[in-house]
Amino acid sequence: MASEPKTLNDLFWDTLKDIYYAEKQILKALPKMAKAAKSPELKQAFEKHRNETEIHVDRLGDVFEIIGKAPRGKTCDAILGIIDEGKSIMEEFEGSPALDAGLLAAAQAVEHYEISRYGTLKAWAQELGLGNAAKLFDQTLTEELKTHQALSQLGESKVNKQAQPKAA
Ligand SMILES: [Fe+2]
Ligand SMILES: [Fe+2]
Repeated sequence: MASEPKTLNDLFWDTLKDIYYAEKQILKALPKMAKAAKSPELKQAFEKHRNETEIHVDRLGDVFEIIGKAPRGKTCDAILGIIDEGKSIMEEFEGSPALDAGLLAAAQAVEHYEISRYGTLKAWAQELGLGNAAKLFDQTLTEELKTHQALSQLGESKVNKQAQPKAA
């Protein structure tokens, strides 16, 4: 049986399922990262972004509705790998001054993955004439970029310094 040639529509739907799965994994990982973090600011940053992540999942639900499909995830090995590395940091750096810097870096890897996906989805939505979907992706993309920026700032101003205590 000959299959239809796949087009941007197929890629779009596939990638939508990928990020839907990824966001749900992130929603589970962020409370664990907040719990593990020692710095109150880092804890707060993770908690704040957990709340935003809930909204990201909802927005993706809206995009599924726009394209007339039921919300469905597709296993994303990339996010599982990134989250797994975060778990290793938690275990291997538990109780050490470098724990928070490691957690922050793990979170940055997550944000970069999301920024990449949402940038792509926004461009494809525009190409496909899905203006409302593009707007929703753009809103989330802005929040991911802001989170990434806030984490960088927290790292440079505090968390990275605490990871390398000055010798007395
Ligand atoms: Fe997100
Ligand atoms: Fe995020």
